Amino acid sequence: MPEGVVVREASTDILVPETHSLHGPGKKIGPVFFNRQMAFNRDVSVMLLRTLSKSMTVADAMAATGSRSVRIANEVPGTEVVANDMSPEAVEYIDANIKMNSLSNCESSNCDMHSLFTERSFDYVDLDPFGSPAHFIQSSIRGCRKKGILAITATDTAPLAGAHAGKCRRRYQCEPIRGYMCHEGGLRILMCTIARELAKFDRGMTPLLSFYADHYFRTYVRVEEGADAADRSLGSLGYMHYDPSTLERSISTLSDSEHRLGPFWLGPLHSKDVLASLSSEDTSEERRCVKMLDLWRNEIDSEVFLYDMSELSSFTKMSPPKIDDLVDELRMHGKAAKTHMSPTSFKTDLETKDVLGVYRELSDRMMAAKNSV
Ligand SMILES: C[S@@+](CC[C@H](N)C(=O)[O-])C[C@H]1O[C@@H](n2cnc3c(N)ncnc32)[C@H](O)[C@@H]1O
Repeated sequence: MPEGVVVREASTDILVPETHSLHGPGKKIGPVFFNRQMAFNRDVSVMLLRTLSKSMTVADAMAATGSRSVRIANEVPGTEVVANDMSPEAVEYIDANIKMNSLSNCESSNCDMHSLFTERSFDYVDLDPFGSPAHFIQSSIRGCRKKGILAITATDTAPLAGAHAGKCRRRYQCEPIRGYMCHEGGLRILMCTIARELAKFDRGMTPLLSFYADHYFRTYVRVEEGADAADRSLGSLGYMHYDPSTLERSISTLSDSEHRLGPFWLGPLHSKDVLASLSSEDTSEERRCVKMLDLWRNEIDSEVFLYDMSELSSFTKMSPPKIDDLVDELRMHGKAAKTHMSPTSFKTDLETKDVLGVYRELSDRMMAAKNSV
Protein backbone atom coordinates (compact mmCIF):
# COMPACT_ATOMS: atom_id res chain seq x y z
CA MET A 1 0.00 0.00 0.00
CA PRO A 2 1.55 3.37 -1.01
CA GLU A 3 1.89 6.08 1.62
CA GLY A 4 -0.50 8.98 1.75
CA VAL A 5 -3.58 10.59 3.22
CA VAL A 6 -7.21 9.74 2.62
CA VAL A 7 -9.38 12.49 1.15
CA ARG A 8 -13.16 12.09 0.98
CA GLU A 9 -15.03 13.41 -2.08
CA ALA A 10 -18.82 12.88 -2.07
CA SER A 11 -19.21 9.22 -1.00
CA THR A 12 -15.75 8.09 -2.16
CA ASP A 13 -12.49 7.79 -0.19
CA ILE A 14 -9.33 8.53 -2.15
CA LEU A 15 -5.79 7.74 -1.03
CA VAL A 16 -3.47 10.45 -2.33
CA PRO A 17 0.18 11.36 -1.70
CA GLU A 18 0.58 13.55 1.39
CA THR A 19 2.26 16.21 -0.77
CA HIS A 20 -0.26 17.26 -3.40
CA SER A 21 -1.61 20.39 -5.09
CA LEU A 22 -4.38 22.28 -3.36
CA HIS A 23 -5.13 24.38 -6.44
CA GLY A 24 -3.60 25.69 -9.67
CA PRO A 25 -2.63 24.04 -12.94
CA GLY A 26 -1.59 20.39 -13.35
CA LYS A 27 1.98 20.16 -12.06
CA LYS A 28 3.23 17.04 -10.35
CA ILE A 29 4.47 18.00 -6.88
CA GLY A 30 4.26 14.62 -5.07
CA PRO A 31 5.18 11.16 -6.44
CA VAL A 32 1.77 10.98 -8.17
CA PHE A 33 -0.41 13.92 -9.15
CA PHE A 34 -3.50 14.91 -7.20
CA ASN A 35 -5.20 18.33 -7.07
CA ARG A 36 -7.86 18.99 -4.48
CA GLN A 37 -9.35 21.89 -6.42
CA MET A 38 -10.24 19.51 -9.27
CA ALA A 39 -12.93 17.97 -7.01
CA PHE A 40 -15.40 20.26 -8.80
CA ASN A 41 -14.27 18.89 -12.18
CA ARG A 42 -14.77 15.34 -10.88
CA ASP A 43 -18.18 16.30 -9.42
CA VAL A 44 -19.28 17.48 -12.84
CA SER A 45 -18.17 14.19 -14.47
CA VAL A 46 -20.18 12.19 -11.94
CA MET A 47 -23.20 14.48 -12.33
CA LEU A 48 -23.10 14.20 -16.14
CA LEU A 49 -22.50 10.45 -16.35
CA ARG A 50 -25.35 9.78 -13.93
CA THR A 51 -27.80 11.42 -16.30
CA LEU A 52 -26.48 9.92 -19.54
CA SER A 53 -26.69 6.19 -19.48
CA LYS A 54 -27.55 3.20 -17.39
CA SER A 55 -24.57 1.13 -18.50
CA MET A 56 -21.34 2.44 -19.92
CA THR A 57 -17.68 1.48 -20.35
CA VAL A 58 -15.37 4.23 -19.16
CA ALA A 59 -11.66 4.85 -19.77
CA ASP A 60 -9.83 7.30 -17.55
CA ALA A 61 -6.81 7.57 -19.87
CA MET A 62 -4.54 9.46 -17.47
CA ALA A 63 -5.89 8.53 -14.08
CA ALA A 64 -2.95 9.39 -11.73
CA THR A 65 -4.29 8.29 -8.28
CA GLY A 66 -7.48 7.09 -10.00
CA SER A 67 -9.51 9.73 -8.17
CA ARG A 68 -11.93 10.29 -11.06
CA SER A 69 -12.10 6.58 -11.96
CA VAL A 70 -13.01 5.42 -8.48
CA ARG A 71 -15.52 8.22 -8.05
CA ILE A 72 -17.25 7.26 -11.29
CA ALA A 73 -17.14 3.52 -10.48
CA ASN A 74 -18.45 4.15 -6.97
CA GLU A 75 -20.99 6.90 -7.67
CA VAL A 76 -22.36 6.12 -11.14
CA PRO A 77 -24.33 2.85 -11.24
CA GLY A 78 -23.79 0.68 -14.32
CA THR A 79 -20.27 1.86 -15.15
CA GLU A 80 -17.32 -0.43 -15.93
CA VAL A 81 -14.19 1.66 -15.49
CA VAL A 82 -10.59 1.25 -16.66
CA ALA A 83 -8.24 3.50 -14.68
CA ASN A 84 -5.12 3.84 -16.80
CA ASP A 85 -1.81 5.56 -16.16
CA MET A 86 1.58 4.86 -17.66
CA SER A 87 3.31 5.50 -14.34
CA PRO A 88 3.73 2.33 -12.23
CA GLU A 89 3.68 4.50 -9.07
CA ALA A 90 0.29 5.88 -10.09
CA VAL A 91 -1.07 2.37 -10.57
CA GLU A 92 -0.14 1.53 -6.96
CA TYR A 93 -2.47 4.33 -5.82
CA ILE A 94 -5.17 3.25 -8.29
CA ASP A 95 -5.07 -0.32 -6.97
CA ALA A 96 -5.19 0.92 -3.37
CA ASN A 97 -8.19 3.13 -4.18
CA ILE A 98 -10.08 0.32 -5.93
CA LYS A 99 -9.50 -1.87 -2.87
CA MET A 100 -10.35 0.81 -0.31
CA ASN A 101 -13.73 1.43 -2.00
CA SER A 102 -14.37 -2.31 -2.59
CA LEU A 103 -15.01 -1.76 -6.30
CA SER A 104 -15.63 -4.75 -8.54
CA ASN A 105 -16.40 -2.53 -11.57
CA CYS A 106 -13.01 -0.78 -11.78
CA GLU A 107 -9.73 -2.22 -13.09
CA SER A 108 -6.30 -0.63 -13.21
CA SER A 109 -4.19 -0.50 -16.36
CA ASN A 110 -0.54 0.47 -16.72
CA CYS A 111 -0.24 1.45 -20.40
CA ASP A 112 0.73 4.37 -22.52
CA MET A 113 -2.73 5.69 -23.48
CA HIS A 114 -1.76 5.61 -27.16
CA SER A 115 -1.36 1.81 -27.01
CA LEU A 116 -4.41 1.33 -24.75
CA PHE A 117 -6.62 2.94 -27.40
CA THR A 118 -5.19 0.94 -30.30
CA GLU A 119 -6.39 -2.17 -28.48
CA ARG A 120 -9.59 -1.19 -26.68
CA SER A 121 -12.46 1.23 -27.12
CA PHE A 122 -14.97 2.67 -24.66
CA ASP A 123 -18.30 4.51 -24.45
CA TYR A 124 -16.70 7.34 -22.49
CA VAL A 125 -13.06 8.47 -22.75
CA ASP A 126 -11.67 10.94 -20.25
CA LEU A 127 -8.48 12.82 -21.07
CA ASP A 128 -6.84 14.90 -18.36
CA PRO A 129 -3.15 15.47 -19.13
CA PHE A 130 -0.59 17.86 -17.68
CA GLY A 131 -1.05 20.97 -19.84
CA SER A 132 -2.14 20.58 -23.45
CA PRO A 133 -4.29 17.64 -24.62
CA ALA A 134 -3.32 18.35 -28.25
CA HIS A 135 -0.92 15.38 -28.57
CA PHE A 136 -3.45 12.94 -27.15
CA ILE A 137 -6.72 13.84 -28.89
CA GLN A 138 -6.24 11.51 -31.91
CA SER A 139 -5.64 8.46 -29.72
CA SER A 140 -8.62 9.37 -27.52
CA ILE A 141 -10.80 9.49 -30.63
CA ARG A 142 -9.53 6.04 -31.63
CA GLY A 143 -10.50 4.77 -28.18
CA CYS A 144 -14.01 6.21 -28.34
CA ARG A 145 -16.82 3.91 -29.52
CA LYS A 146 -19.59 4.92 -31.93
CA LYS A 147 -21.70 7.70 -30.40
CA GLY A 148 -19.36 7.69 -27.43
CA ILE A 149 -18.40 10.67 -25.29
CA LEU A 150 -15.05 12.43 -25.22
CA ALA A 151 -14.30 14.43 -22.07
CA ILE A 152 -11.22 16.58 -22.44
CA THR A 153 -9.46 18.91 -20.01
CA ALA A 154 -6.86 21.50 -21.05
CA THR A 155 -4.80 23.20 -18.36
CA ASP A 156 -2.56 25.08 -20.79
CA THR A 157 -4.61 28.20 -20.21
CA ALA A 158 -1.82 30.65 -21.08
CA PRO A 159 -1.44 29.49 -24.72
CA LEU A 160 -5.18 28.96 -25.28
CA ALA A 161 -6.09 32.33 -23.76
CA GLY A 162 -3.48 34.16 -25.80
CA ALA A 163 -0.78 34.91 -23.20
CA HIS A 164 1.57 32.59 -25.16
CA ALA A 165 0.19 33.03 -28.66
CA GLY A 166 3.13 31.27 -30.35
CA LYS A 167 2.52 28.12 -28.38
CA CYS A 168 -1.19 28.26 -29.23
CA ARG A 169 -0.31 28.48 -32.93
CA ARG A 170 2.04 25.50 -32.62
CA ARG A 171 -0.25 23.27 -30.52
CA TYR A 172 -3.63 24.19 -32.01
CA GLN A 173 -2.91 26.05 -35.29
CA CYS A 174 -5.23 28.80 -34.06
CA GLU A 175 -4.76 32.49 -33.42
CA PRO A 176 -5.95 33.12 -29.84
CA ILE A 177 -7.77 36.19 -28.60
CA ARG A 178 -6.38 38.23 -25.70
CA GLY A 179 -8.24 40.41 -23.25
CA TYR A 180 -11.79 40.13 -21.95
CA MET A 181 -12.86 37.31 -24.29
CA CYS A 182 -9.70 35.22 -23.78
CA HIS A 183 -11.32 32.41 -21.79
CA GLU A 184 -14.28 32.01 -24.10
CA GLY A 185 -11.77 32.10 -26.98
CA GLY A 186 -9.57 29.44 -25.34
CA LEU A 187 -12.50 27.09 -24.78
CA ARG A 188 -13.65 27.55 -28.38
CA ILE A 189 -10.10 26.86 -29.70
CA LEU A 190 -9.99 23.61 -27.73
CA MET A 191 -13.39 22.63 -29.16
CA CYS A 192 -12.33 23.63 -32.69
CA THR A 193 -9.28 21.39 -32.37
CA ILE A 194 -11.41 18.42 -31.29
CA ALA A 195 -13.81 19.00 -34.21
CA ARG A 196 -10.91 19.17 -36.68
CA GLU A 197 -9.33 15.97 -35.31
CA LEU A 198 -12.71 14.16 -35.40
CA ALA A 199 -13.23 15.23 -39.01
CA LYS A 200 -10.08 13.31 -40.01
CA PHE A 201 -11.94 10.14 -38.96
CA ASP A 202 -15.23 11.17 -40.69
CA ARG A 203 -16.76 11.96 -37.33
CA GLY A 204 -18.45 15.06 -35.97
CA MET A 205 -19.41 16.25 -32.50
CA THR A 206 -22.27 17.60 -30.42
CA PRO A 207 -21.13 19.47 -27.32
CA LEU A 208 -22.89 18.38 -24.14
CA LEU A 209 -21.23 20.68 -21.62
CA SER A 210 -18.20 22.94 -21.92
CA PHE A 211 -16.75 25.37 -19.43
CA TYR A 212 -13.86 27.38 -18.09
CA ALA A 213 -13.21 27.14 -14.36
CA ASP A 214 -10.30 27.97 -12.06
CA HIS A 215 -7.27 27.39 -14.31
CA TYR A 216 -8.58 25.00 -16.94
CA PHE A 217 -10.95 24.37 -19.86
CA ARG A 218 -13.17 21.31 -20.01
CA THR A 219 -15.50 20.01 -22.68
CA TYR A 220 -17.73 16.94 -23.01
CA VAL A 221 -18.73 16.13 -26.59
CA ARG A 222 -20.80 13.34 -28.03
CA VAL A 223 -19.11 11.84 -31.08
CA GLU A 224 -21.31 11.67 -34.18
CA GLU A 225 -20.59 9.18 -36.96
CA GLY A 226 -20.18 9.87 -40.67
CA ALA A 227 -18.81 12.36 -43.17
CA ASP A 228 -21.99 14.50 -43.00
CA ALA A 229 -21.61 14.86 -39.24
CA ALA A 230 -17.95 15.81 -39.72
CA ASP A 231 -18.90 18.41 -42.36
CA ARG A 232 -21.59 19.86 -40.09
CA SER A 233 -19.06 20.25 -37.27
CA LEU A 234 -16.54 21.89 -39.60
CA GLY A 235 -19.37 24.23 -40.60
CA SER A 236 -19.48 25.43 -36.99
CA LEU A 237 -15.87 26.63 -37.14
CA GLY A 238 -14.95 30.15 -38.04
CA TYR A 239 -12.92 33.25 -37.39
CA MET A 240 -13.71 36.42 -35.48
CA HIS A 241 -12.70 40.02 -35.73
CA TYR A 242 -12.61 42.44 -32.81
CA ASP A 243 -12.35 46.17 -33.30
CA PRO A 244 -11.21 47.79 -30.03
CA SER A 245 -12.08 51.25 -31.38
CA THR A 246 -15.80 50.38 -31.48
CA LEU A 247 -15.95 47.10 -29.46
CA GLU A 248 -17.66 45.55 -32.51
CA ARG A 249 -17.25 41.78 -32.84
CA SER A 250 -17.97 39.90 -36.03
CA ILE A 251 -17.59 36.29 -37.06
CA SER A 252 -17.03 34.65 -40.40
CA THR A 253 -16.74 31.20 -41.96
CA LEU A 254 -13.47 29.35 -42.53
CA SER A 255 -13.26 30.63 -46.09
CA ASP A 256 -13.29 34.32 -45.10
CA SER A 257 -9.67 35.38 -45.02
CA GLU A 258 -10.25 38.91 -43.68
CA HIS A 259 -10.77 37.79 -40.09
CA ARG A 260 -7.60 36.94 -38.25
CA LEU A 261 -8.52 35.47 -34.85
CA GLY A 262 -9.29 31.77 -34.59
CA PRO A 263 -10.52 29.51 -35.95
CA PHE A 264 -12.92 28.89 -33.07
CA TRP A 265 -15.82 26.54 -32.47
CA LEU A 266 -18.74 28.93 -33.06
CA GLY A 267 -21.52 26.46 -32.26
CA PRO A 268 -23.17 25.90 -28.89
CA LEU A 269 -21.10 25.05 -25.81
CA HIS A 270 -23.80 22.93 -24.20
CA SER A 271 -26.76 20.70 -24.96
CA LYS A 272 -29.93 22.26 -23.54
CA ASP A 273 -31.44 18.78 -22.97
CA VAL A 274 -28.42 17.56 -21.04
CA LEU A 275 -28.34 20.72 -18.91
CA ALA A 276 -32.03 20.31 -18.14
CA SER A 277 -31.48 16.75 -16.95
CA LEU A 278 -28.48 17.45 -14.71
CA SER A 279 -28.96 17.53 -11.00
CA SER A 280 -26.24 18.30 -8.52
CA GLU A 281 -27.29 16.42 -5.39
CA ASP A 282 -24.69 14.39 -3.50
CA THR A 283 -21.66 16.31 -4.76
CA SER A 284 -18.79 17.35 -2.58
CA GLU A 285 -18.89 20.96 -3.76
CA GLU A 286 -22.65 21.02 -4.08
CA ARG A 287 -23.06 24.76 -3.83
CA ARG A 288 -20.55 25.36 -6.60
CA CYS A 289 -22.29 22.84 -8.86
CA VAL A 290 -25.68 24.42 -8.20
CA LYS A 291 -24.33 27.89 -8.98
CA MET A 292 -22.57 26.77 -12.16
CA LEU A 293 -25.56 24.77 -13.34
CA ASP A 294 -27.69 27.87 -12.98
CA LEU A 295 -25.21 29.94 -15.04
CA TRP A 296 -24.79 27.27 -17.75
CA ARG A 297 -28.54 26.83 -18.08
CA ASN A 298 -29.23 30.53 -18.38
CA GLU A 299 -26.35 31.73 -20.49
CA ILE A 300 -27.19 32.63 -24.07
CA ASP A 301 -25.53 29.81 -25.96
CA SER A 302 -26.67 31.01 -29.38
CA GLU A 303 -24.42 34.08 -29.14
CA VAL A 304 -20.64 33.91 -29.31
CA PHE A 305 -18.21 36.27 -27.61
CA LEU A 306 -19.15 37.88 -24.38
CA TYR A 307 -18.93 41.48 -23.14
CA ASP A 308 -17.24 42.43 -19.88
CA MET A 309 -18.23 45.24 -17.53
CA SER A 310 -14.57 46.44 -17.36
CA GLU A 311 -14.41 46.51 -21.16
CA LEU A 312 -17.50 48.74 -21.30
CA SER A 313 -16.41 51.05 -18.46
CA SER A 314 -12.90 51.55 -19.84
CA PHE A 315 -14.31 52.16 -23.35
CA THR A 316 -17.02 54.62 -22.28
CA LYS A 317 -14.99 56.08 -19.38
CA MET A 318 -18.21 55.88 -17.36
CA SER A 319 -18.70 54.17 -13.99
CA PRO A 320 -20.09 50.66 -14.28
CA PRO A 321 -23.59 49.98 -12.98
CA LYS A 322 -24.20 46.63 -11.29
CA ILE A 323 -24.03 43.82 -13.86
CA ASP A 324 -27.45 42.51 -12.75
CA ASP A 325 -28.99 45.95 -13.38
CA LEU A 326 -27.39 46.16 -16.83
CA VAL A 327 -28.52 42.66 -17.79
CA ASP A 328 -32.08 43.47 -16.62
CA GLU A 329 -32.06 46.67 -18.66
CA LEU A 330 -30.68 44.90 -21.78
CA ARG A 331 -33.46 42.32 -21.44
CA MET A 332 -36.00 45.06 -22.07
CA HIS A 333 -34.55 45.32 -25.60
CA GLY A 334 -33.45 41.74 -26.39
CA LYS A 335 -31.81 38.68 -24.88
CA ALA A 336 -29.14 39.08 -22.20
CA ALA A 337 -27.66 36.85 -19.49
CA LYS A 338 -24.51 36.52 -17.41
CA THR A 339 -21.95 33.88 -18.43
CA HIS A 340 -19.99 31.38 -16.37
CA MET A 341 -16.68 32.68 -17.74
CA SER A 342 -16.35 35.49 -15.19
CA PRO A 343 -18.66 37.25 -12.71
CA THR A 344 -18.37 40.47 -14.74
CA SER A 345 -19.27 39.05 -18.15
CA PHE A 346 -22.53 38.70 -20.06
CA LYS A 347 -23.81 37.82 -23.52
CA THR A 348 -26.56 39.47 -25.47
CA ASP A 349 -28.07 39.39 -28.94
CA LEU A 350 -28.13 43.21 -29.10
CA GLU A 351 -25.79 45.06 -31.44
CA THR A 352 -22.69 46.57 -29.85
CA LYS A 353 -23.93 50.14 -30.40
CA ASP A 354 -27.15 49.30 -28.55
CA VAL A 355 -25.26 47.62 -25.70
CA LEU A 356 -23.19 50.80 -25.37
CA GLY A 357 -26.32 52.98 -25.52
CA VAL A 358 -28.02 51.05 -22.71
CA TYR A 359 -24.82 51.06 -20.66
CA ARG A 360 -24.36 54.83 -21.01
CA GLU A 361 -27.99 55.54 -20.14
CA LEU A 362 -27.86 53.34 -17.05
CA SER A 363 -24.54 54.75 -15.90
CA ASP A 364 -25.90 58.30 -16.32
CA ARG A 365 -29.03 57.43 -14.32
CA MET A 366 -26.90 55.86 -11.60
CA MET A 367 -24.66 58.93 -11.31
CA ALA A 368 -27.66 61.28 -11.27
CA ALA A 369 -29.24 59.27 -8.46
CA LYS A 370 -25.97 59.35 -6.50
CA ASN A 371 -25.58 63.13 -6.93
CA SER A 372 -29.11 63.83 -5.80
CA VAL A 373 -28.52 62.13 -2.40
C1 LIG B 1 -2.77 15.70 -14.68
S1 LIG B 1 -2.45 14.03 -14.26
C2 LIG B 1 -4.05 13.30 -14.23
C3 LIG B 1 -4.89 13.70 -13.06
C4 LIG B 1 -6.08 12.84 -12.81
N1 LIG B 1 -6.95 12.71 -13.97
C5 LIG B 1 -6.89 13.31 -11.60
O1 LIG B 1 -8.11 13.63 -11.75
O2 LIG B 1 -6.34 13.39 -10.52
C6 LIG B 1 -1.74 13.38 -15.70
C7 LIG B 1 -1.34 11.91 -15.60
O3 LIG B 1 -1.09 11.44 -16.92
C8 LIG B 1 -0.11 10.43 -16.86
N2 LIG B 1 0.40 10.27 -18.24
C9 LIG B 1 1.17 11.14 -18.94
N3 LIG B 1 1.36 10.69 -20.21
C10 LIG B 1 0.66 9.53 -20.31
C11 LIG B 1 0.43 8.61 -21.37
N4 LIG B 1 0.97 8.81 -22.59
N5 LIG B 1 -0.35 7.54 -21.14
C12 LIG B 1 -0.89 7.32 -19.92
N6 LIG B 1 -0.70 8.15 -18.87
C13 LIG B 1 0.06 9.25 -19.05
C14 LIG B 1 0.87 10.93 -15.84
O4 LIG B 1 1.60 9.85 -15.28
C15 LIG B 1 -0.07 11.61 -14.81
O5 LIG B 1 -0.36 10.75 -13.75
